[in-house]
Amino acid sequence: MTVRYKLAPSILAADFAHLADHVGAVEPYSDQFHVDVMDGHFVPPITIGPVVVKALRRITELPLECHLMVTEPERQVEQFAEVGADSAVWHLESPPDPRPVLHLVRKLGMKAGLAINPETPFEAARPYLEEIDVLNVMTVNPGWAGQAFLRDVLPKIRAARDHIDREGLEIDISVDGGVNLETARECLDAGANVLGAATAIFGQQDAGAAAAEMKRLLLGRASA
Ligand code: DX5
Ligand code: ZN
Repeated sequence: MTVRYKLAPSILAADFAHLADHVGAVEPYSDQFHVDVMDGHFVPPITIGPVVVKALRRITELPLECHLMVTEPERQVEQFAEVGADSAVWHLESPPDPRPVLHLVRKLGMKAGLAINPETPFEAARPYLEEIDVLNVMTVNPGWAGQAFLRDVLPKIRAARDHIDREGLEIDISVDGGVNLETARECLDAGANVLGAATAIFGQQDAGAAAAEMKRLLLGRASA
């Protein structure tokens, strides 16, 4: 199976006063945009909602992946579908049963994904793998950009990759949190194929150049 490598800049660290410019600068090197939705309950901060996704939809044709760090994703997904989100990723730790959300997300025409916190074992996600498009292995505890990468998560990425390949599943393994050029290499070595990154891209003086460099790393893996 050929693995597709993708760069997913997280707009959480973008300059919201100049969002179109900032997004435009990294777009040529990006495969999708990662939108961190936080509700102030599942995680303490409140961040981005459908209003911003709607604005993003007007300025880019790349897929918009909404990472829902919310306690009741089933109440939110429809709003995101309506404004043009392409996929919804929510937390295995959040609703009691991810299946109803999964079915709703599919019905709304979006791709579906599950995110797992650093302390959640890979085994917890296994029952749902046949039904999802992406497994987001969090490499920080959700809530903020700019946190340090948690290396202890690497064996979990490896376990996910081994299992997914063994079963022949077509699932992206994305990593999210503390991903920079150095930790990206470790994630790719462990089997991740989608890199989410906020600070290492939008937090840099030249976001376009930072994205280009990370994309180069991915292209190197793709041709290896
Ligand atoms: C954390 C978010 C991440 C965050 C990554 O809760 O889910 O997507 O934006 O930020 P960096 O890349 O700065 O760690
Ligand atoms: Zn995220």
